[in-house]
Amino acid sequence: MMGPVTATQTSSCPTLRVSSVLRAAEQRDSAWWRHAVIYQVYPRSWADSNGDGLGDLPGITARLGHLRSLGVDALWLSPFYPSPQADAGYDVADYREVDPLFGRLADADELIARAHELGLRVIVDLVPNHSSDAHSWFRAALAAGPGSPERERYIFRNGRGAGHELPPNNWESVFGGPAWSRVTEPDGSPGQWYLHLFDSAQPDFNWDHQQVRSEFESVLQFWLDRGVDGFRVDVAHGLVKKDGLPDHRARTHMLGDTEEAAAHALDGHSPEPTHHIPYWDQDGVHEIYRSWREVLDSYGGPERILCAEAWVEPQERAVLYTRPNEMHQAFNFDFLGTPWIAEDLVAVIERSLIAADSVGAPSTWVLSNHDVVRHATRLGYAPGTRRPNGIGAEDPQPDRELGLRRARAATTLMLALPGSAYLYQGEELGLPESTDLPDELRQDPTFVRSGGEEKGRDGCRVPMPWFRDAPGHGFGPGPATWLPQPSFYGDYAVDQQDGVAGSTLELYRALLRRRRDLSLGSGSLAFVRGYGPDEGQ
Ligand code: GLC
Repeated sequence: MMGPVTATQTSSCPTLRVSSVLRAAEQRDSAWWRHAVIYQVYPRSWADSNGDGLGDLPGITARLGHLRSLGVDALWLSPFYPSPQADAGYDVADYREVDPLFGRLADADELIARAHELGLRVIVDLVPNHSSDAHSWFRAALAAGPGSPERERYIFRNGRGAGHELPPNNWESVFGGPAWSRVTEPDGSPGQWYLHLFDSAQPDFNWDHQQVRSEFESVLQFWLDRGVDGFRVDVAHGLVKKDGLPDHRARTHMLGDTEEAAAHALDGHSPEPTHHIPYWDQDGVHEIYRSWREVLDSYGGPERILCAEAWVEPQERAVLYTRPNEMHQAFNFDFLGTPWIAEDLVAVIERSLIAADSVGAPSTWVLSNHDVVRHATRLGYAPGTRRPNGIGAEDPQPDRELGLRRARAATTLMLALPGSAYLYQGEELGLPESTDLPDELRQDPTFVRSGGEEKGRDGCRVPMPWFRDAPGHGFGPGPATWLPQPSFYGDYAVDQQDGVAGSTLELYRALLRRRRDLSLGSGSLAFVRGYGPDEGQ
């Protein structure tokens, strides 16, 4: 383990000084997840074994060697469960099966076993805020009609207005449009409304219902029994809604971005606390995670983990999800959202470590995932440009070369930080976003629900290039890819970078090796201050 850097250490350059040390290096607890590097595999787009153009579990298993040679500790798989794919699998119809699109349950077992043989841990995605409208419980709720016990497992209400023709309140869906949809009752009459904070195909569960709570504890056990090492918990801050479902005007965008937050940031003010919004970060969520933690802990060591996807401000509330008897980690989206400005980055890193330390948790770090424009592209815009939700051909285009240069620097910084880091598939290749997808191929529900105003997230989900000269750049055995790969993707292919000095892939491998050799993930941190003004490079 790296020794602590002390505040008295001096630099050879007299104008530079070292700030005080953040975070003690002597961690008593060296549990794997405190410093793990976890690689997100987006199953549709990583590797296709059967040539249908959509990635699958056997495809992933066959290429786990890539992760082993990259040097990560674990992989997190986005959902592969049966689903109508209204939101690329985040609309789950059965929590205990594998969608035939991705394989069979036996393929999941094989993936887990092979990963473990290679020394890789496996984290799966759990989507507890909502199910698919094709879930048997929701179908039963529709069939059973108003007032039935089946309806109580979701959030059904009568509409407002004389004929109940208006939604029960004014909440807006994260994907755009109202957060309520009206059903047709079994007798054919226009009926009740149900809540969906995301797409209308994703009805929200009623977490006040005991059956919902027991069901998810049982789902956790199902996957723990199959050997998974943890769960990434989708929309962890959304499960409990404020009593009475009071009106609230603002629309939240992905990762918690609201118009108000953006305006506040421009004014230099702190954003409004998320829990002021009646469907986010309500205190009641915490008892759910305490009960889940008991389930996980009952499996003994080595620890299985929970990681919260919780878009929560301020950070002091976000870290409540990682108190010792709740989750192990939470994504740090403040870091992801920070512009490429040195003093802003220093500030967010300091704040993150102090906040995480206050509850004894490790901080996490992430720059890209399946919901945001890839950082090699994001950083190709002027610092401070508002993070777009997708980019189209008619939008201002990024400076690709500058973006890659900054992305490499950003990752170098991130992988040196104490805590746990998340990588998103393809970033190890310096992969940029696809910025010219034809609108008719877009599949993200945001595109349709926002009336095309937001291009959505398809551009970061394009299938991986493995071999430049193979059909589909080696994504599968044939040329099919569910989204087209940009013309330049072949230049970024794994085979173009493997063993090539200076390539982004070799940079990632070297950074991960160095991080491991020097135990940087469990080290302490101090900033050297006194460098010249930020050049924006
Ligand atoms: C999370 C997922 C995102 C999904 C949403 C609704 O934010 O990361 O992809 O659309 O939840 O489940």
